[in-house]
Amino acid sequence: MTDSFPQRLKPYLIEKSVLVKSPGRINLIGEHTDYNEGFVLPAAIDKAAYIVLNKRTDNRIVLHSADWEQRFEIELQDLALQSQPSWPNYLLGVVAQFQKAGFALSGFEAALSSDVPVGAGLSSSAAIECAMAMALSTAFEHPLSRIDLVKLSQKAEHEYAGVKCGIMDQFASGFGKKDHVIKLDCKSLEYEYKPLQLNGYKIVLFDTNVKHSLASSEYNVRREQCETGVAWVQEVYPEVRSLRDISLDQLKQLVLPKDALIYQRCKFVVEENIRLLSGCDDLETGNIEAFGKKMFRTHEGLSKEYEVSCPELDFLVEAVKNHPHVLGSRMMGGGFGGCTINIIKEEGVHEIVNTLSESYQKQMQKALTVHHVSIENGTTLLS
Ligand code: GLA
Repeated sequence: MTDSFPQRLKPYLIEKSVLVKSPGRINLIGEHTDYNEGFVLPAAIDKAAYIVLNKRTDNRIVLHSADWEQRFEIELQDLALQSQPSWPNYLLGVVAQFQKAGFALSGFEAALSSDVPVGAGLSSSAAIECAMAMALSTAFEHPLSRIDLVKLSQKAEHEYAGVKCGIMDQFASGFGKKDHVIKLDCKSLEYEYKPLQLNGYKIVLFDTNVKHSLASSEYNVRREQCETGVAWVQEVYPEVRSLRDISLDQLKQLVLPKDALIYQRCKFVVEENIRLLSGCDDLETGNIEAFGKKMFRTHEGLSKEYEVSCPELDFLVEAVKNHPHVLGSRMMGGGFGGCTINIIKEEGVHEIVNTLSESYQKQMQKALTVHHVSIENGTTLLS
């Protein structure tokens, strides 16, 4: 058993329990590119969801949230969409996908505990979904590949949480590797692990404590805007499938004359892919300064062109922009709240955290939460 195993789950452990851990994620660069068949550069972190699952002999599903001390029960055959409270949905969403895929299940008891902050843009829901998918496949002996578990978890998010997310979050949770980022091509699903050597720098997350309430509706709108842009290019180039296949010139010729806003959205995505690829070169040559500059540029694009930031996120990025110890900073994830990701010189972290906490409180009348993260392995079967 690992040190970080939450003690709250202990009462649910029996000899035959299946115990799974699945982490949250960060993303270094490549935002809102995954559902456009582009590239992303995420990594799994040291904050994770844990699930203990015990099979039952009947068809009852009994779910426990060890953190909230809540319990939810349902018959397997009554599995309906959307429970209240909402936490069971992430578990039931995965159960529903197993059923849809024709994998036989019986009743079970599952207890969940997670230290991935909710609403912080660290993919707390993907962590739960991936943990549940591995727990079910292990307990009910449906040997699914890791990529199948990831895809199934993504579908659960689409259908139960109503967010038409890309594959990044579930992929990072499922495939994370200690001290490595994952360069994932969301078109082919080919991926490459790249060691993250920060040589004296640290990744620090500044959490706005703004819960992204606009996130799901606006997220789906952005997705549609990108699809509209693609459809206009397809009128002339029918072979094009996604923004991944489209150049800046094509956007200028075929999208800009029709709608400036759609053009602006699509242009950000195409440029973000270019930035990511050149950012990977920076990491390879150890040029973290150049990488950091790209993060600032990504933030600007997300804020002004893709328009998924919020005043709190913008404030946090602006506040560290010219600090000599900060190489890069940007909002991370879907947007409208959550965290900024920062690359900060180790010796500067303490002072920056103190100053920023004070100015954030003063300016935004909210507390700043700071998460120090390390990069860890993805979904793991612990027993
Ligand atoms: C959310 C989604 C991801 C991805 C990011 C933005 O985290 O779940 O699939 O689209 O937003 O990059």
